[in-house]
Amino acid sequence: MTAQVAVIGTGYVGLTTGAYLAHLGHRVVCADVLAEKVEALGRGEVPFFETGLEEMVREGIDGNRLNFVMGAAAAVPDAEFVFLCLPTPQAQDGSADLSYIEAVAADIGPHLIPDAVVINKSTVPVGTTTRVERLLARDDVHVVSNPEFLREGTALHDCLHPDRIVIGSDTHEAAMRVASLFEHLESPLIVTNPASAEAIKYASNAFLATKVSFINAVAQLCELFGADVRDVALGMGYDKRIGFEFLRPGPGFGGSCFPKDARALVRMAEDVGYDFDVLRSVIETNQRQFQWVTEKIERAVGGSIDGQTIAVWGLTFKARTDDLRESPSLHVIEHLRSRGAKVRAFDPMVRHEIEGVEVCGDAYAACQDAAVLVVLTEWDDFRWLDFDKVADVMASRVVVDARNLLDPTGLRRRGFQYDGIGRI
Ligand code: UDX
Repeated sequence: MTAQVAVIGTGYVGLTTGAYLAHLGHRVVCADVLAEKVEALGRGEVPFFETGLEEMVREGIDGNRLNFVMGAAAAVPDAEFVFLCLPTPQAQDGSADLSYIEAVAADIGPHLIPDAVVINKSTVPVGTTTRVERLLARDDVHVVSNPEFLREGTALHDCLHPDRIVIGSDTHEAAMRVASLFEHLESPLIVTNPASAEAIKYASNAFLATKVSFINAVAQLCELFGADVRDVALGMGYDKRIGFEFLRPGPGFGGSCFPKDARALVRMAEDVGYDFDVLRSVIETNQRQFQWVTEKIERAVGGSIDGQTIAVWGLTFKARTDDLRESPSLHVIEHLRSRGAKVRAFDPMVRHEIEGVEVCGDAYAACQDAAVLVVLTEWDDFRWLDFDKVADVMASRVVVDARNLLDPTGLRRRGFQYDGIGRI
């Protein structure tokens, strides 16, 4: 089946969704409100880095299956399916701000064809499907929830091979129509009501964040026990009920989803009278992790970092992305700076200025005269650098590896003092 699809919003989720739906053979029109962005996308230029995405966007444009237009209303007049992929930033009180979604719903309502299906892909608070239905003010269209689970860095792979497809709808017919869009994909399909679909997304992100905070807490304990967290995680992971994934300790979780969605879920729970204390403490553990890594750095240099130069490798919230949103690296840097340190940093994907940080053109330049080198993002490239050269340019040979990325034996052989996370 080939469908006529509109995608509103060309951020991470929207653009990936548009590109892969066109790749699956559908005719897709993507809309945004930024004229410059729409023009650039029309030329096949993707404004952020995601492996394979630019190629897939160009494939869609060249095959005449992918177009970009200004404004939601212009994208929907022929659309059988309208995906809402709009930002839901955090409001002052920690809840998700729905103003973009609400404005678009009110805007497109009069332009939709009868029987169109409007699909919420953004992570939206439980109850939003019903709210959108009201705002559209159309009895002859359907509103469905179809949360997106893609990860940055592997977005296309995640879309083309999803672990599951979740569709929340009050009518079976609309759910099946949405499912038919993905008929090429061999993934389990879960059809449920809209509230459950919306809750699945939040509960999944919150659970994954819990795994990360849990292993970060275990890593701290391992240091006190004299145990190695990597062996502990491996030993736990063989239990199928636990699994291996998301048990890598580090400087804490970040990104555009986990921190925001965890806070939003705590808030949503509060609104219905439930104190989600487990999740509150996951968030607190994460905040403390930034602090703990900072203290580790202080201990590594033997006390105060006031006036010291610190080299940081990695600024993005994880590897294989250029995204700095809620990056643990930036949180740790903030702590370092507040204690008087001078920070020199290198990241393969970051070239622009960052306030209070000297962003260097290569990894060695960042180490010049540094009292300590701190690894905060797990870029694979860092493992293969010339550590003799690193040793030569640093003021002292001290490494704090907050991602357990480097080889301690090789570093110690070169005279480095090495400190990882949760290992001896
Ligand atoms: C996440 C979800 O995985 C995805 O399903 C959802 O759609 C959006 O949010 P993403 O934000 O791209 O995806 O990042 P993810 O790979 O999940 O990592 C989140 C954070 O946790 C990163 O800062 C990462 O470094 C950290 N993390 C992850 C760990 O510290 N240890 C781990 O074992 C896994």
